[in-house]
Parts: sequence; structure tokens; C-alpha cells
Amino acid sequence: MRTVKSVAGIQALSRRWRRAGARIGLVPTMGALHDGHLSLIRRARQAVGRHGKVVVSLYVNPTQFGPREDLSKYPRPLRRDSALCRAAGVDVLFIPVDREMFPREKGREFSTWVTEERLSQSMEGRSRPGHFRGVTTVVAKLFNLVGPDVAVFGAKDWQQAAVVRRMVRDLNFPVKLIIAPTRRESDGLAMSSRNAYLKGDQRRQAAILSRTLAAARHVVRASRRPVDGTRLRKVLTRLIEKQPDARVDYLEFFDPETLTALTRVGRGAHAALAVRVGKTRLIDNGRMG
Ligand code: PAJ
Repeated sequence: MRTVKSVAGIQALSRRWRRAGARIGLVPTMGALHDGHLSLIRRARQAVGRHGKVVVSLYVNPTQFGPREDLSKYPRPLRRDSALCRAAGVDVLFIPVDREMFPREKGREFSTWVTEERLSQSMEGRSRPGHFRGVTTVVAKLFNLVGPDVAVFGAKDWQQAAVVRRMVRDLNFPVKLIIAPTRRESDGLAMSSRNAYLKGDQRRQAAILSRTLAAARHVVRASRRPVDGTRLRKVLTRLIEKQPDARVDYLEFFDPETLTALTRVGRGAHAALAVRVGKTRLIDNGRMG
């Protein structure tokens, strides 16, 4: 496995690979890798084959964090991440540096952004202004730098995947997206680098997100008619907030493709939620029936 840090380095490698006809798979991450990330890496390998090249990018992208968010304390276990990538058969670990990704020299600061203006308005976009602008901009840059044939994203961040898919279509990026299923702990908690923030009993309480999705799915499946979304949201919010440290940020029902909010929730609808457990903000989503 090679580790590349410079923009020129990854561009040169990618050019060489493409000339040689190798397929390239990209898995963008912010590091602090867990089994969810590793499942995306396996999926990328499967997509490009034994002779293809798998690139994992590891970059804690400052532009997708709000001013009061966890950028400075985001976990950065670099040696461990590198060992995990090597063991997973990654060809190149791309670890760009801030000053090359987002130059800050006075008068020559980075000033070009990619914004998706529809799907990124609700849910995470509403709670975290500017977040998706940071995501689409960094992902567009990674696509330009690596030139992947396929890129793998997780269903864990459902809205992110939808926004990136729209960007790829609208801006004609020649990349195929693969959305891989959410990997979970044994109690259902979706794996996340942020789970490491959970203290003491909060880890147990955090299972309420996936339990709530399961309860909602149960209600929707058991009903012969679509369920009233407002009432269901109320019931589920009360259920979540029975956990002493859990506070709902949002809980929404929507069309899984267009992300349009649904007032009536039937099979095929999707639900997503963000919950603060103590100071840790967790998200999850799933299909209703
Ligand atoms: P990060 O949170 O590190 O996630 C990297 C990728 O792993 C994303 O596509 C995410 O959806 C996926 N992922 C996270 N948890 C998962 C789980 N439990 N099961 C399956 N996949 C999971 O998402 C980002 O980084 C950033 O926004 C990024 C796309 C890298 C842009 O900076």
C-alpha cells in the first residue's frame, strides 16, 4: 500500500493507472475507520476487480464542519487507520493536507464552491448550514483528483448519498456510485466514528435510534393504510426522549429518491433521524416496510 499526500502525487498515479487501463475505485472517508468503512472498501474491491486500484481518501474536511461542531476533536487515529487499510488490501491511501485542498494565502484563498440546492435543504442541511456545500465541494475535488470509475458511499448517510448522486448527474462526473448498506453493532447502533464520544450509559441509550426505526417500520407494516406522519413523529419522539440523555434534533419521513417530505407514511417511505445523546449527535435512517 502506498500513502500519497500531495495533489500532484495522486494526479500522477491516477493518470498512470488510467493509461494502463486499470479500473479505479474510490472510498472517501474522514478516517477513524470502523467496519462500516471497511465494508465500503471491500465493495470497491469487488467493483474494480483484482487488477483494479482501490483508493481510500482520508481527510477530515474542515469545510463541512460548522463553527460550533467537533472539527478539532474529531478522532484522528492515523496509524491504526493506515494499518486497517493495508490489511484490507487498499492500493493507495490518499491523505491530502489542508493547505493544498483549501489554500488560505492572503488574496489567493480558495473561493470556488459546488452547491446542490434542492436535496441539501432539509434534515442535515437545515440542522447544519453549509455542511453539504463542504461535502459536495470536497467530493467533487476528490473525483477530479482520483478520477475514479466507481465511488462507494454508505447508506448510513442517506441524504449525503442522494446529494452526491444529484451532483454527479448534474455536473456529469463520469463515475458510477455504489451505495453500500449500513453496518451496525450487535444492539443495532449504526457504526460511526462519533460513537467513540459516547460516555458511560450513553452508549446503551444510543441504541434508541435503530430501535425507533424498527418500531416505526413495525407500525407502518401493521397498518393497512398509510400512517399519519405528524402523529407517528410525536409518538416516536416521546419514545426516544424517554432515554435520559437523548434529545431529538429531527425525525422525518420522506421519499427515498427525491427526499420530499411525506405527510402520510406507507411502505417504501424512508425515515431519517438525528438525535443528540449527551453532547454527541448521532444519525440513522431506514426504509419503512
Ligand atoms: P465518514 O463519516 O468518514 O464516512 C465515510 C463513508 O463511510 C460515507 O460514505 C459513510 O456513509 C460511510 N459510513 C459511515 N458509517 C457507516 C456504516 N455504519 N455503514 C456503512 N457505511 C458507513 O461521510 C463522510 O465521511 C464525509 O462526509 C465524506 C464523504 C468523506 C466527505 O468528506
